[in-house]
Amino acid sequence: MVERNLGQEIMARLDRLAEFTEDEGQLTRTYLTPVQRAAGEEIIGWMAEAGMSAGFDPAGNVVGRYEGTEPGLPALMTGSHFDTVRNAGRYDGMLGVVAPISVVKALNEQGRRLPFAIEVVGFADEEGVRFQSTLLGSRAIAGTFDTALLDKQDRDGITMAQAMTSYGLDPAKIGDAARRPDEVLAFVEVHIEQGPVLESEGLAAGIVTGIAGANRFNVRMTGLAGHAGTVPMGLRRDAAAAAAEAVLYVETRCQGIESLVGTVGVLAVPNGATNVIPGEAELSLDIRAGEDEVRRAAVADILAEIEAIAQRRNIRLEIEQTHDAPSAGCASWLMSQFADALAAEGLPPRQLASGAGHDSMAFTELTDMAMLFVRCGNGGISHHPDETMTAEDADISARILMRFIESFVPSARSGA
Ligand code: HGY
Ligand code: MN
Ligand code: MN
Repeated sequence: MVERNLGQEIMARLDRLAEFTEDEGQLTRTYLTPVQRAAGEEIIGWMAEAGMSAGFDPAGNVVGRYEGTEPGLPALMTGSHFDTVRNAGRYDGMLGVVAPISVVKALNEQGRRLPFAIEVVGFADEEGVRFQSTLLGSRAIAGTFDTALLDKQDRDGITMAQAMTSYGLDPAKIGDAARRPDEVLAFVEVHIEQGPVLESEGLAAGIVTGIAGANRFNVRMTGLAGHAGTVPMGLRRDAAAAAAEAVLYVETRCQGIESLVGTVGVLAVPNGATNVIPGEAELSLDIRAGEDEVRRAAVADILAEIEAIAQRRNIRLEIEQTHDAPSAGCASWLMSQFADALAAEGLPPRQLASGAGHDSMAFTELTDMAMLFVRCGNGGISHHPDETMTAEDADISARILMRFIESFVPSARSGA
């Protein structure tokens, strides 16, 4: 178990990481940028100080390894992402990188080695902000990275391959990041809840049952620009009005159905002007649900309605799917070991589902996974600078993780 308080160290490191931003005055850190490299080097320093061998992997993830009782043993892998959304909070992702490093540091200080290795990973792109494709780092390690994505361009026209090369990586070697199933005993992730449940029930932590599946799309609507003063309403092909109909349909279709959510997070009229009828409109779609059939039905209806809107309004449509991930269940044998760890810290085994996506969902094709949710404050607000948590809860999350790790029984895996 942990003998000293780790909460202050964890919070200080999360504050330090928040200094690495590409946007003055707010936290934004995207894939393969110079600030991400600097943040990665800071994390690698902490990993080395904790007794790990550490460095960047071929996908730009930061990976630290703490050997077990002998070198080369299969690893219990843990970690989360260290990229952020724009104007982000400082705990989403980073808690699950920094807390395990402090736990390994405590093990190392106690001179303890376990019958397995421990690998801590900072995934380089979970949010998908720069190239609009998510889970890039975890998919590279899970061996499911789609190399067609290397041609995707960011908003400055730089391809992912070019960004990798500038970062000092070789795009041709992305496959070398992949792990074999026999190298990884399980993957577990510590993450803030990003919701109000734990805070409302006065609980510091909970066990995730599963992660909602998600589909993301980019939609471009093309009508006809024109003079705002001279084109009669009945003759217009107004792309923004078409987009507005689509936004309201997404909201209506997803309302009132358990665990189904639909969001248009990006809505733009490129080169718009007050006195010009919008000829172009761009919108994103993010549709999620705990049950895959509920999500798929909603996606089908939404795409059909967008087609119908375009027909009615004589709008040309371009739709690109950028993400399609089935829901991912957490492994019961890992969940029960987290329940034991919570009990050892005097906490009930509160189970809850995750509406947010996480790197853990990329691991189901490589190994079994589970997640520990940690209470966040301010009603659970996240993807926002008001995201918050306490040093006490950071310490509790580290204590629970330590209990989980030191009691981890790999053979409890079903059929192992
Ligand atoms: O969007 C999500 O659910 C995650 O925060 N990337
Ligand atoms: Mn996030
Ligand atoms: Mn996250």
